[in-house]
Amino acid sequence: MKKFIMKLPRQYHEVWMGDGSLDFLPGFPPLKRASQCFILTDSRLKSHAVALEKALLLRGIRTHLISLKVSEELKDFKQIYPLFGELLKKNADRHSIILALGGGVIGDVVGFIAGTYMRGIRWVGIPSTLLAQVDSALGGKTGMNHEQGKNLIGVIHQPSLVLCDYQLLNSLPLRDQISGLGEMLKYGLIFDPKLFSRLKRQVKPGGPDLKSLQNEISVCLKWKAKTVVRDEQDLKGIREVLNFGHTFGHALEAESSYGTFRHGEALIYGMRVACELSFRRGYLNQKTQSEIDVVLKRVQDPPLPPKITAKKYLKRIQSDKKARNKRVRFVLLKKVGQTVLDQECTDQEILDSILQIMKAGV
Ligand SMILES: NC(=O)c1ccc[n+]([C@@H]2O[C@H](COP(=O)([O-])OP(=O)(O)OC[C@H]3O[C@@H](n4cnc5c(N)ncnc54)[C@H](O)[C@@H]3O)[C@@H](O)[C@H]2O)c1
Ligand SMILES: [Zn+2]
Repeated sequence: MKKFIMKLPRQYHEVWMGDGSLDFLPGFPPLKRASQCFILTDSRLKSHAVALEKALLLRGIRTHLISLKVSEELKDFKQIYPLFGELLKKNADRHSIILALGGGVIGDVVGFIAGTYMRGIRWVGIPSTLLAQVDSALGGKTGMNHEQGKNLIGVIHQPSLVLCDYQLLNSLPLRDQISGLGEMLKYGLIFDPKLFSRLKRQVKPGGPDLKSLQNEISVCLKWKAKTVVRDEQDLKGIREVLNFGHTFGHALEAESSYGTFRHGEALIYGMRVACELSFRRGYLNQKTQSEIDVVLKRVQDPPLPPKITAKKYLKRIQSDKKARNKRVRFVLLKKVGQTVLDQECTDQEILDSILQIMKAGV
C-alpha cells in the first residue's frame, strides 16, 4: 500500500492506495475513535459493504449499513432528506462517522450529509470508480444538483481519511472506465505532458487496462492533492484549473438530462471544445490542438444528442454558476501542461468552437 498526507490549512488526513486496502480499514484511527459507524454504499457494492460491516462489528464498532440505488438523481435534496432521518433514528451523534463506499455520487452525497448533519461529522471516502479514485475523492467538495444546474448546492467538508482500493475497480463497467480515463486525461492535459503521453496509449477499443494504470491513478490523485492544498476554498483561481473542460461538459450533462452521459464522457467533449476555443483565442497552436483532438476523439464516447443546438449549450453555459456578468471564465490551454484563465471569450467564439466539435463528431 502507498500513502500520502493531504496537508490542508486547518487539518490533514491520510490517503491510502493499494490492492485490497479496504481490508485494513477497521484498524485506522478515525474508525477506532467512532461512537457508531454508518456505511453508506452504492447497492452495486453491497457485497463489499456487507464484508466491511462484518469486519467492523468484529472489532466491536457499532455499524449500520445503508445501501442506496445510485444515479445522478440521488444528488437531490428530496432524495437525501430521508437519510438525515435514518441517522437521527439511529442516534448518530457528533462522534459518529460515515463511510462513503461508492463512486462520485456516493462521495458527494455522503460529504454533503456529513458536512451538514449536526453541523458536521467525520466521514471516510472509499472511492469505487476510476473517476472517484483519480479525482472526486479528494478535496472535500460536495455537490447537490438543482434544476438550474449541476453541483450548485454544497459545502466543502474534508474527509478524515481516503482509501483507494484498486480491487474495487475490477467490476467497473466499460463506460465508467472510460469516464475515469476522461478525468485522467484532463490531469495530463493541464499539468503533466508525460502523463498525457502514457495515457494516450490507454485510449484503445475495449477500454483502458486498469491493472497497468495504478501508477497513473496515484499520479492524478497527487496532482489533485497538490492543487487543493494550495486553494482549498477554491477562491484563488488555483483550484479553478481543475474545471478544464467542465464548462461545456456540465452543459452537456444538464442539457442531455443527467445520466445520459457519464461525467467523464461529457468532460471529453468539454475538453475538445476547450481546446478548440484555446486555438481560436490564440493560445494553443493548431498542430497541438488537432493532435489532442485526435486522441480525445478516439475515446469511445456516445454521440452528441442531435437535437441539442449549439445555442442551447451556450445558454446553459451562461447560466452556469461560474458565469460572471454573463461572461464565462474558461480554463484554456496554452500547451499540454499549461493553462490560462480567460474571461474575454465572445459568445461567437464559444458558439463556433461548439459547432466545430459538433461538426467533427465522434
Ligand atoms: N466532489 C468532487 O470533487 C467531484 C469531482 C468530480 C465528479 N464529481 C461527481 O461525481 C459524480 C460522477 O462520479 P462517478 O462517475 O464515480 O459516478 P457514480 O457514483 O454514479 O458511479 C458511476 C456508475 O458506476 C457504478 N459503480 C460504482 N462503483 C462500481 C464498481 N466498483 N463496480 C461496478 N459498478 C460501480 C455506479 O452504480 C454507477 O452506475 C458526478 O455526480 C460528479 O458531479 C464530484
Ligand atoms: Zn470532473
